[in-house]
Amino acid sequence: MEEQQVWICNAAPLFSEGPRNKMKAIVYHKYGTPDDLELKEIDKPVPRNDEVLVKVYAVSINDWDLALLEGDFINRILNGLRKPKRKILGSDIAGRVEAIGKNVKQLNPGDEVYGDLSGRWGGFAEYVCARENLLALKPAAMSFEEAAAIPQAAMLAVQGLIDRGKIKKGQKLLINGAGGGVGTFGIQIAKLYGVETTGVDNTGKLDMMRSLGFDHVIDYTKEDFTKNGKRYDLILDVKTNRSIFDYARALCRNGVYVTVGGSIGRLFEFLFLAPWIRMIHKKHIRLVALKPNKDLAYMNELFEAGKMRPVIDGPYRLDQVPEAFRIFSQGQHKGKMVITI
Ligand SMILES: NC(=O)c1ccc[n+]([C@@H]2O[C@H](COP(=O)([O-])OP(=O)(O)OC[C@H]3O[C@@H](n4cnc5c(N)ncnc54)[C@H](OP(=O)(O)O)[C@@H]3O)[C@@H](O)[C@H]2O)c1
Repeated sequence: MEEQQVWICNAAPLFSEGPRNKMKAIVYHKYGTPDDLELKEIDKPVPRNDEVLVKVYAVSINDWDLALLEGDFINRILNGLRKPKRKILGSDIAGRVEAIGKNVKQLNPGDEVYGDLSGRWGGFAEYVCARENLLALKPAAMSFEEAAAIPQAAMLAVQGLIDRGKIKKGQKLLINGAGGGVGTFGIQIAKLYGVETTGVDNTGKLDMMRSLGFDHVIDYTKEDFTKNGKRYDLILDVKTNRSIFDYARALCRNGVYVTVGGSIGRLFEFLFLAPWIRMIHKKHIRLVALKPNKDLAYMNELFEAGKMRPVIDGPYRLDQVPEAFRIFSQGQHKGKMVITI
């Protein structure tokens, strides 16, 4: 069966043939739509020497999973030009270590872990293999669903606001696309810095955004924040759907605009024009290159201090993953969509 050699681990199976060697997973064999995701029984992966085998209890959907499913140009370069090489999506997982390779030093069977496995993926399955350095220990009080919601979106929020944005007390901050994964973590981090926050998203998400603590909300279907005359010290953007000049107009002098994602065309435009905007207008345009899992210890700290709670849409079951992707692709989700396995 094609799925059996798919991907996860190259080593030979450890167990004899039988039901113990099998697991359920959501697989895809061609780029397309959520209809191309199928629930299948396939071989359980086997950890290499430097890997652990994790029994997955929860996994969340990221924008990157959808891009890999649809197969845009960049993701075809990453995962096969004609058809996907890695056939199970899902990067942000939480689960329990079931077995370890002989060179694994930090983790033990039974440890509860979570992390972002992007580049390897494989999370929409009952088991996945991962190098131990991609996994953090999950605090006991954090549910598997909460843990699975955190890795990619929270890292983008932390690295966008703190590392690239240099957020400071007293600033005016705007988050564009504030009702999704990055935005719902972003507001909670921003509140720790004592900034005045504005969130932009569609009508259906504004109440949830207010309840998370946004001081002001803007409905992007009714108002363009780059044209209303207001200025911000810091803008964090998850959509990047306007020109660099629009964003520069919405910044104060010496203000900082940080994008976590957008079309390749836009990102090239930004890279090319950012030095000019800095020189002429004294405004700073920056991009985030995700450093996966870098700040999970900080997230654990915030969680344990009661200062951060993931906003979860769901949880859905593994067999509902195609439907969950449909909802996600239509932007109907609030916060992070989580699947319980
Ligand atoms: N920099 C890196 O290394 C890196 C790595 C991984 C991912 N990424 C990027 O990170 C981003 C993921 O963000 P996320 O998880 O927060 O996504 P998300 O959960 O899909 O949230 C995006 C939000 O933006 C809203 N939105 C849509 N159109 C909008 C508009 N015109 N104006 C304002 N808001 C709008 C969406 O709502 P509706 O659609 O319902 O209106 C949704 O609530 C993606 O851009 C991805 O490419 C970057």
